[in-house]
Amino acid sequence: MEQVSIKDLSQFVDQEVEIKAWVSNFRSSGKIAFWQLRDGAGFAQAILNSTDLDEVKWQEAQKVTLETSVKIIGKVSKHPKKEEYEIQVTDFEFYQIAEEYPIAKKDHGVDFLLDNRHLWLRSSKQWAIQRVRNTLISATYDFFRENDFIKIDSPILTPNACEGTTELFELDYFDNTAYLSQSGQLYLEAAIFAHKNVFDFGPVFRAEKSKTRRHLTEFWMMDAEMAFIDLAENLQVQEDLVRFMVTAVLEKNKAELEILERDIKPLENIIKPFYKITYTEAVNKLQELGSDIKDGADLGADDETKLTQEYDNPIFITHYPAAIKSFYMKRDEQDETKALCADLLAPEGYGEISGGSQREDDYNVLLKRIKEHKLSVEDFQWYLDLRKYGSVPHGGFGFGLERIVTWVCGIQHVRETIPFPRTIYRIKP
Ligand code: 4AD
Ligand code: MG
Repeated sequence: MEQVSIKDLSQFVDQEVEIKAWVSNFRSSGKIAFWQLRDGAGFAQAILNSTDLDEVKWQEAQKVTLETSVKIIGKVSKHPKKEEYEIQVTDFEFYQIAEEYPIAKKDHGVDFLLDNRHLWLRSSKQWAIQRVRNTLISATYDFFRENDFIKIDSPILTPNACEGTTELFELDYFDNTAYLSQSGQLYLEAAIFAHKNVFDFGPVFRAEKSKTRRHLTEFWMMDAEMAFIDLAENLQVQEDLVRFMVTAVLEKNKAELEILERDIKPLENIIKPFYKITYTEAVNKLQELGSDIKDGADLGADDETKLTQEYDNPIFITHYPAAIKSFYMKRDEQDETKALCADLLAPEGYGEISGGSQREDDYNVLLKRIKEHKLSVEDFQWYLDLRKYGSVPHGGFGFGLERIVTWVCGIQHVRETIPFPRTIYRIKP
């Protein structure tokens, strides 16, 4: 007997196969029962007929509950109308008849679902989201590998801040204080001198007090850092990466996007060049759209939503005021008040998915910035050193994985994109 995965059923039409799965739904109409099976790779319907099974088995089949685990033996057939395959059950065996499943079909509030995240992960939408996330992760690795980037694993326990000191998780580190990393960027900057083009991909931490649908306290970032590049080249790499990632999902996750009811037109659209506007242009546009944003202020979540609703393709916003950006960003020679930086905003109201910049590569200017930002020169001495031994123009960017998954899946809230979300209100389960 061939042990098969639901995704391969089309290759086994009219053959008898064995499937190990969970019953994610079931219904019965007298002499016939339908079990919706979930085997990890997909969903398929098993049909049990009282005439095909002996009386004892048929009676046993009545004991099925939601999430019961089962081994099914049956013949594969194609759905008469749809591109779906079904199993006509000839025999089955329960691994376990599940207790009453807390997540029934009725609508639950999101808090209940999050409290039961360990179970909620099984439902079809959540299943689809994690599959899309997995494709986006694999595509990231594939893209960087194909483009000769070396993966550098940056540390999680760090002695200093990367993205400002207000959102740091602090912990006792023997006789010292350590912080959980906010971004691997500074360490990647060290690695470019050995490897030229590098990336990392791992969890980062922000003690975000924000309660928006875009913020987590623990999320996954992929940072990239490149030697000998300028801002335009940096944006080009991001554009290529996003295209590569989205194309991978469109190719590999058709069924998942269907479950999510994602309109794929806007995703197919990203073959066009991304929009590029300056911060000043963005502020003007936002004011026209009725925002009360002041010149010099950072874009709020509502501003990002408002702005990106106007676009059908991702948008780079460049040249933010240096005063609202990080200490390491190089300034624009034409206008010293602006940073050579760009945020990448996803369209359809989604907002920022990546932040990047040219880095200050001059020792004395960087020293001045560190002092201006009241950071410890001693702690950053290693980072300053990089500007002493073969300094080069360089830059990079960091993508928030969960923000991209949210956009690509077309869902509302970032908390559904990570298996076990952490926010200011939630550290369980
Ligand atoms: O814009 P950010 O803060 O940039 C950096 O950390 C740079 N050091 C990256 C670099 O240049 N290598 O964060 C990068 C991205 C954001 O664009 C956003 O997508 C995501 O990380 N992000 C968050 N995602 C979820 N929850 C949060 N609290 C996030 N904060 C940032
Ligand atoms: Mg940012």
